[in-house]
Amino acid sequence: MKTIIEPFKVKVVEPIKMTTRNEREGYLKDAAYNLFLLKAENVIIDLLTDSGTGAMSAEQWSALMRGDESYAGSKSFYRFEAVVRDIFGFEQVIPTHQGRAAERILFSVMCRKGSIVPNNTHFDTTRANIEYLGAEADEQFWWRTAGLDGEHPASESDLLSLQVAALFRCLSICRERLLH
Ligand SMILES: Cc1ncc(COP(=O)(O)O)c(C=O)c1O
Repeated sequence: MKTIIEPFKVKVVEPIKMTTRNEREGYLKDAAYNLFLLKAENVIIDLLTDSGTGAMSAEQWSALMRGDESYAGSKSFYRFEAVVRDIFGFEQVIPTHQGRAAERILFSVMCRKGSIVPNNTHFDTTRANIEYLGAEADEQFWWRTAGLDGEHPASESDLLSLQVAALFRCLSICRERLLH
């Protein structure tokens, strides 16, 4: 059925402080134009990330009460593990409470000094976690070299092109390193 309105009712509202253009310019100046030094309460529309912008459904809120907080062997973990395995088919499931924590674990296993991690645009914590290990966060729009026009972000159908482009990019970086 075609949806003509958002198919849910919104139960909670959170007020946003409205500011004038002059005030916003002042806040930006005080933060030395560093978005991480801005106070969130002075931001009307936050485009830094989607974090913290989603509303939880009634089912999600009620699941909080079903949560088993046992320190080890929690029922909730096994339920979570079964769903993740069902959806993604992965054998190993390691829950993390934050994206940046997940990246920290992933890169500490996958990368070391000198590794190259290509991406069209690295999220800030992704780059930080990569560089912390002495690896290189490569962001030179490597996928364009595969003949993609640059207007469309990579999709699954482009996966082979992406792999070929990544291979060429890595080979050219290795060549540069050998020559210098
Ligand atoms: C790749 C990536 N890493 C990290 C984060 C940040 O998530 P968190 O605030 O849970 O660390 C995001 C959120 O948008 C993300 O897309």
